[in-house]
Order: sequence, then structure tokens, then C-alpha cells
Amino acid sequence: MSLQLDRRSEELRLRVVRRALRHDSSPKHVAGTATFVDDMREPEGLLHIAVGGAPIAAGQLLGIDLDAVRAAPGVVAVLTAADIPGKNDVGPVLHDDPVFVDGRIEFHGQVAFAVVAKTRGEARRAVTLAKFEVATGTHCVSVDDALAADQHILPDYTFRKDDSAAALAESAYRMKGRLRIGGQEHFYLEGQVSLAIPGEDGDILIHTSTQHPSEMQHLVAHMLNVPVGDVTVEVRRMGGAFGGKETQAAQWAAIAALGARVTGRPCKIRLDRDDDMNLTGKRHDFLADYEVGVDIDGRIQALETVMASRCGYSADVSGAINDRAMFHADNAYYLPAATITTKRMKTNTVSNTAFRGFGGPQGMMVAERAIDEIAWKLNRDPLDIRKRNLYQEGRDVTPYGMFVEDNILLPLIERCEAMSEYRTRRRKIAAFNAESPTLKRGLALTPVKFGISFTTTHLNQAGALVHVYQDGSIHLNHGGTEMGQGLYIKVAQVVAEEFGVDIAHVKITATTTAKVPNTSATAASSGSDINGWAAKNAAGAIKERLVAFAAENWEVTPDQIEFRDNRVFIGNQSVPFAELIRKAYFARVSLSSTGFYKTPKIHWDAAKGRGRPFFYFSYGAACSEVLVDVTTGEMKVQRVDIVHDVGRSLNPAVDKGQIEGGFVQGMGWLTTEELVFHPDGRLLTHAPSTYKIPCSSDVPEHFQVALWDGANREDTIYRSKAVGEPPLMLAISVFAAIADAIHSLDSDKPVPLDAPATPESILRAVQVVTGR
Ligand code: MTE
Ligand code: HPA
Ligand code: MOS
Repeated sequence: MSLQLDRRSEELRLRVVRRALRHDSSPKHVAGTATFVDDMREPEGLLHIAVGGAPIAAGQLLGIDLDAVRAAPGVVAVLTAADIPGKNDVGPVLHDDPVFVDGRIEFHGQVAFAVVAKTRGEARRAVTLAKFEVATGTHCVSVDDALAADQHILPDYTFRKDDSAAALAESAYRMKGRLRIGGQEHFYLEGQVSLAIPGEDGDILIHTSTQHPSEMQHLVAHMLNVPVGDVTVEVRRMGGAFGGKETQAAQWAAIAALGARVTGRPCKIRLDRDDDMNLTGKRHDFLADYEVGVDIDGRIQALETVMASRCGYSADVSGAINDRAMFHADNAYYLPAATITTKRMKTNTVSNTAFRGFGGPQGMMVAERAIDEIAWKLNRDPLDIRKRNLYQEGRDVTPYGMFVEDNILLPLIERCEAMSEYRTRRRKIAAFNAESPTLKRGLALTPVKFGISFTTTHLNQAGALVHVYQDGSIHLNHGGTEMGQGLYIKVAQVVAEEFGVDIAHVKITATTTAKVPNTSATAASSGSDINGWAAKNAAGAIKERLVAFAAENWEVTPDQIEFRDNRVFIGNQSVPFAELIRKAYFARVSLSSTGFYKTPKIHWDAAKGRGRPFFYFSYGAACSEVLVDVTTGEMKVQRVDIVHDVGRSLNPAVDKGQIEGGFVQGMGWLTTEELVFHPDGRLLTHAPSTYKIPCSSDVPEHFQVALWDGANREDTIYRSKAVGEPPLMLAISVFAAIADAIHSLDSDKPVPLDAPATPESILRAVQVVTGR
């Protein structure tokens, strides 16, 4: 009780945290004055780099004739594998990502050389003059090709809970199916870009657009064969990243750094959009086979699934991504018995990588399809089947042995059900569909349960650095990067709250390896969780010294000191914050501190497939309605209602933006965004002319987002929850609603809809269901 009262009074005291402060850069974003790497004033003598790539998908590079390239106007240097002083590798986990092709060609366009020239145009023109001599080998493009050829990049991995084969055999009904789940291009507005500036004694400073400055620093140092400390990587902001700059900024940073090393001049590389789409990895597409067994009431008895993914030519972070697909193949549902396998297939395509959700969305698609299969078989409303199978007391352990302790699924879903008027609309839609032969409406309400923490346990650490200057202004730095998600403002709010000052007192500064070392990627949605705590710990250490100083100076006890409203209340008097700082400085109190945080409670035994990989879960539910023309396959999302759990929000405006943006990005993944590869291995959809991301007119007219109001059960920063990735998976409701619309054509048949649900995909499913 008293703990609760404490919490309530702490809540009431909060001044900066919980406020819907605008993104710190939003005026600059709107005015076009926010500085991205390519906007930085160019250093004197800057050279520009363009890259040239292999003309085949697989084989041997026998030689490249670069004479014409070297002789082209403006060319200063040409870089190949032979110029690399250290390792020709930027692989983040395994060492299988060459900077430049050295012998073996692994995918169409794989970078074989780079041209350094006086202008970007000259570099790009010179690249086209290379003559390749190659020996063509055999190649795999799709998951199906790789399965047929038995090409794996990593070994298969399986979670087993109980005897799923026996449980399937004893089930009243068994449904078996196959689901294709498409990949996704990140389509960040700012493409990959790096600017490398050589300094004294072999030092090099790299401005780049990456989620992972420390990893870029390490990989560049290894490539140059210099100590890590010689390389500094700085990131003020990214124009979007979405996972695409977690590992895959490395090649471009390395090439820029090599150019700077070889020429002794600053070098910049900014990929053209087509090059960016052709040369960087995407979300993994999956081919999933599943079988689900249920009792007569539709309660799942067992799930078996084999999910095969297109990893591309190298491992990158495909291992962890496939793991996360497995961690989410249950989504929100209790599986008494399960066998969950992923196959990590090697293909001669770009190396697929992190993308918002990190395999989780693909895993959840399998769970949600299994639920729909049950509803179709039993002729029940899918929402009832969903509710029946939710984790609940006594049925609360995941297939990997983690207990779901913070479950709010049922009340959250019921709030979404009420807000969306699900039952009334279900009846209206049935009536509409009965009268309408070509236009069919569909409705679906799907939940999300997303595990928060890097599943690679050691990555769950963060650092921060806070200085207070003599005038009371505060300098904040931490290892997290800003990609538009609002991390900087959230962490600044935490620091302002700690010192009891307005947000304007806190100077937000660019992430750099020179201030906070050995950081993890800003990823796994954990940016504000871990950097928020690290910054609070740094500010708290300074505050502790200030309290000790004030207690001594004013002869009060520490509990009589409070930092609030830009002042410090000391016993029955108060002084401006800046005055306390000045006094503390003259008393020789240290006004600078680092802070550190590591996530507690988590552990994971990969060999056993058991543990607690996540600190907690974030939850959400979305109800979507679609209108489908079953004669053309065209589709429109008409109404979306979302209830999403962000714990107690650090910043409700930023969180709402993440929910809306994540949902629309997920909608694009599952509806219009289709990656098409030519059988020869070329990506055909490498520009916005053929690759269709959602536009503003695709945002549903009725789009209502409510925040679930409840504190995180775990001791996260101000009891908030991570928000970056989970909302993307709310868009599975759109996919399920499309299947629901098609299902209205024949209620006796399952709907074999594949993602993305493009008009072609919808028509294929319609044809199967109608038998036409
Ligand atoms: N929001 C914007 N605007 N731009 C982005 O690139 N990336 C997403 C998400 N939201 C992204 C975004 C991804 S993939 C992750 S993991 C998180 O933000 C990372 O930031 P966080 O940990 O601070 O939430
Ligand atoms: N999410 C994002 N990036 C990662 C993860 C994860 O779970 N594990 C390793 N890198
Ligand atoms: Mo996000 S896919 O974890 O960068």
C-alpha cells in the first residue's frame, strides 16, 4: 500500500517525463535545416566514391580491366580488395561479408571495386567503364531454390515443447497449410551514406548513417588494420533506418575510410537509390509449413512449423532473426506442445538483415494463420478462437520456457473489441457481403505480444555521459542513435526530470564512439529502455554529489533537498539550479559523470532452447476492416482501431507516432510491397517506380490509436515500455481481414492467401476458394 502511495506521489511530481513534447528536431525536419551526412558542409578537397559490381549472381571473378576507369575524367583512385591493409570483411557476426569481391562472386551486383573521383558524377560515370572477366557458376535465388539445392547459411534450429507429434495425433481436428511471407525493402528516406575524414597519426573520423556506431568503428579498424581507438564514428541522426542500418552501413563506411586512407583526403560515398536497393539486405522472406491440432472447442493442442527463410549470401544477423521468428511463432497463444524449426537458407542475393520486428513479424504470421485455419474449420468467429487460446493463468509458459508474467492480453483485446464495435460491425459486414457479389468486406482483430530485449543477452547494455557546465547547462550524450523514433528527446526528458529543470536546459548531442564506447546497436526497440536508464544513472551520480554538497553547505539533511522547477529547494529556502552548480564548482565538486545500465533478469541457453530471453513483453491489438474487389483483387483499408501498450509513456506524442508509423509500414509489407527477383538473380524492383511503399492516401480514413494505460510490471525507466517495433505487427490484422473478406466467398474453404496481399495474390486466393 505504502509502495503504491509512493509511486502515486512520484507520478504527481513528474514535470518533464510523460509530457507530449515534440521531437527535438521536428522544426528542423520541417524547415529542411536538420543536418544529415550529405548536408554537412563539405571539407576542403573532398572526393566522391561510386561502386561497381559483378555482372553475374554466382561464380568466379577472374579479373577486371580497370584501365579505362582509371583514365576517366576526374578519377583519383580505384579501390579493390588488393588495397585493403587489414581484413577484407565487414561481417558483423561471422566473417563472411567481403568489402570487395575477392575471387568468389555471391550475388548480382556484389561490389568488386570503387572509384574515387573529384565529383560524384565523374565517379559514377567511370564505374561503367570496367570490363569483367568471370566464370559463371550455379546459383539459388529463392527459398525454394535453396531448399532444392540444400544450401544453408547456418544450421537448422528447433524449439521443442512436449511431444507435438503425439498431441497432433490425438487432436480432434488437424489443419495443415503453407504460407509465403514476403520480404521488405527498408526504404529509409536517407540512403546509405558515409563521410570519412583523415586526421593526424592515422586517425580517421567517420560521419555515417548507422544504428551501430561502435560496430562500424570496430569493423573499419579491422579493415584498416589499426587499433579501434584510431577510428571515431559519429552519428547525429539518420533519415530513417528501420534495421537496415544496424549492420549494413558497414560496407560503405569501410569504403569511405579506405578511400580516405589511400588518397589522404576526405571521401564521401552516398549510394544512389537503385544501388541502395540492389546492394543492401532486406527483411527475410519466409516459406512456412505448419500443422495445428485442436480439440473440439478450438483449443490448440499442438503446433508444428518449419519456417525457411531467404538469408542471402552471408550470415549477417540472420541467426538472431530466425531465432526471433521462433520466439514469436506462438504470438499471444498458449501452445501445450510445439515443434518450431527454422531453416536459414543461403541464396545468391543480397544478405538479408534486420527489419523492424527482426523476424518476429514473420513468426507471428504463422500463429495468426493457424488461428484463422481453426476458425475456418470450426466455423467460428476468429476473434473467439483467438481469445480462447490466449496465454492465461496456468497456461502461461512459452515454448521456450519463459513465463508470461505481465499478461494483459484479454483486457487489452476487449478494449479494442469495444472501441472498434467489433460485434456490431461483424453483423453488418455479413449482411453487406450477402448482398454484394464483387465487393467484399473483411474484418479482423489480431493481438501482438512482442518480447523486449536483444535475444543476444550481452547486447543488453548501454552507457551515457552527462556534463553540467558552470552556468547550469547540461550536455547529454549516450550510446543510442536517433533515426526519427524520438529516442533523443525521450532520454533528454529523463535527464531534465532528474535535475528538475526544463527540457531546454538539456543539450542533445550527436552519438559518438569518442564519448560513449562499446555500445550496442540502437535496435530491438530497447533504445529508450537501456539508454534512458544509463542517462538517469549518469545524471543521478552528479545529483548525488550535488545533494551531498548542498546538505553540507546549507547544513540540512539530504531528504530536505529537492530539485524542481529549475530550482533546488534546500530546507526552507531555494536557489536557482545554476546557482547551486556555480557554488558546487567553486567547492570543487565533479560535475560530470558516466552512467551504465544492463538489463536484469534475462538469460538464454541456446543449446537447450530454454530461458528468459526477454525482460518483458509489449502488447497491442488492432482491428482492421478492408474492402476487397474479388474480381480485380484491389483492396482498401477502411478502418483501423488500435489499443497499444507502452507502459507508462515517457512521451505519448512520440509513442503515438511510432504506433501509427509502425502500423502503416507493416501494412505496406503485407499488401503492396513486393520484391521481385529475376531468375538470373537481379532484383527487378529496385526503385519506387516498381516497389510500392504506402503513401498518405493509403492511411485509413478512420485511424484511431489509444494507449493502454498501465505501468510496466518490471522496473524499466519510469515504468515505460519499448514501442519501436511492436506496432508493425498490428498490421497483421489487415492481412487477416483480407483473408476474411475472401472467406466470405465460401465459408467451407480455408483461404490460402500469401503475403504480400497484392491484387495478384488476392486473385490467386480467390481462384482457389471459388474453384474458378
Ligand atoms: N522510427 C523511425 N521514425 N525511423 C526508424 O528508422 N526504426 C524502428 C523503430 N522506429 C525506426 C523507427 C526500429 S527497427 C527500431 S529497433 C526502433 O525504432 C529503434 O529505436 P528505439 O529502440 O529507440 O525504439
Ligand atoms: N533485435 C535486433 N537486433 C538484434 C537482436 C534483436 O533481438 N539480436 C541481435 N541483434
Ligand atoms: Mo530494429 S529491426 O531492431 O533495428
